[in-house]
Amino acid sequence: MTELKTIGVVGAGLMGHGIAQVSAQAGYEVVLVDADGAALEKGLGVVRGQVEKAVAKEKLGAADGEAILARLTGATDVAALAGCDMVIEAIVENLEAKNGLWRTLDEAVQPSCIFATNTSSLAVIDQAAVTSRPDRFIGLHFFNPVQVMRLVEVVRTIAASDEAVRAGIAYGERIGKTAVETRDRAGFLVNRILVPFMLDAIRGFEEGIGSIEAIDAGFRLGAGHPMGPLTLNDFVGLETLSRAAEGMYEEYRDARFATPPLLRKMIAAGWYGKKTGLGFYDWSGPEPVPNPKIDLLRTV
Ligand code: CAA
Ligand code: NAD
Repeated sequence: MTELKTIGVVGAGLMGHGIAQVSAQAGYEVVLVDADGAALEKGLGVVRGQVEKAVAKEKLGAADGEAILARLTGATDVAALAGCDMVIEAIVENLEAKNGLWRTLDEAVQPSCIFATNTSSLAVIDQAAVTSRPDRFIGLHFFNPVQVMRLVEVVRTIAASDEAVRAGIAYGERIGKTAVETRDRAGFLVNRILVPFMLDAIRGFEEGIGSIEAIDAGFRLGAGHPMGPLTLNDFVGLETLSRAAEGMYEEYRDARFATPPLLRKMIAAGWYGKKTGLGFYDWSGPEPVPNPKIDLLRTV
């Protein structure tokens, strides 16, 4: 089986920095690329902060911490990925943007390299097909926060080779996750069920079933969820949620994947959730509080 040594990650945002971190922690050499230099520095800074925190808490030896950080390098140009054994993309959830990236990477990265997308909602074959290596193209769907969540979905397309799927599973296990092989259906296994639930929480709020706090408390206390669905929406990012919903709506033409009007308006207002400071909650203070402006956008 292909032995992977060097992992490239494209996109240093919410997901990409975490994928880079867990890969470096597992002993891989990692090159993290973001087209935006500031986003790259931010992502590398978060990883550095977390490793330093683990050392300070004595969960990690100082030498091990240094070795993890030494294995991780950053770049703004995909040319830095040329020698990678596997490249995982975690850029914006948009097929055109992802395919533009893959066309460039197909030229820039050695032919033996396996390509993997962290898409939340797009069928993987639509990206594999624009490269010259659909047999070496898989999905690796991580969960947020990558450092904590224990699952990775390994998506087998109709064109993927057994070897590429096995390499994806072996990688997932080496980074300490449970790697589950899933079919190439938009949303795979978890998001096929989770995304309609996250959207339904918004519809319920729009219908007036309860306040933001009541809906979240209901699921924390009544269903044992670690965070309520509206908090989770802010945490995932409202534009990412909406793009994922659109991807699945496009595939299935089923109303349960349609973006609710309130979500569309919140995104139009620039409220992307925790990352921009406003979503269902206002995240600017020490503790999140329900966004006081949201009733203006509510339909009831
Ligand atoms: N990065 C790194 N580590 C983190 C972290 C982050 N962003 N957030 C929390 N942690 C770590 C903390 O450092 C802490 O570690 P230690 O115990 O070693 O100190 C541990 O996780 C627990 O953290 P907290 O005590 O602060 O918080 P918590 O117990 O409330 O857990 C949580 C936080 C893990 C995020 C939890 O609330 C949770 O599981 N929430 C649900 C997350 C979820 O559903 N994710 C899936 C989203 S959907 C998706 O990802 C798919 C998609 O395509 C959209
Ligand atoms: P994000 O917006 O936090 O980060 C995306 C990063 O990609 C940004 O830093 C941006 O500068 C960079 N980028 C965009 N286009 C680029 C390009 N062409 N080349 C290089 N860098 C580029 O997004 P995110 O939440 O990390 O999501 C990334 C991917 O992961 C999406 O496909 C999303 O659906 C998926 N995903 C997200 C979550 C989640 O909870 N947010 C969970 C699982 C999967």
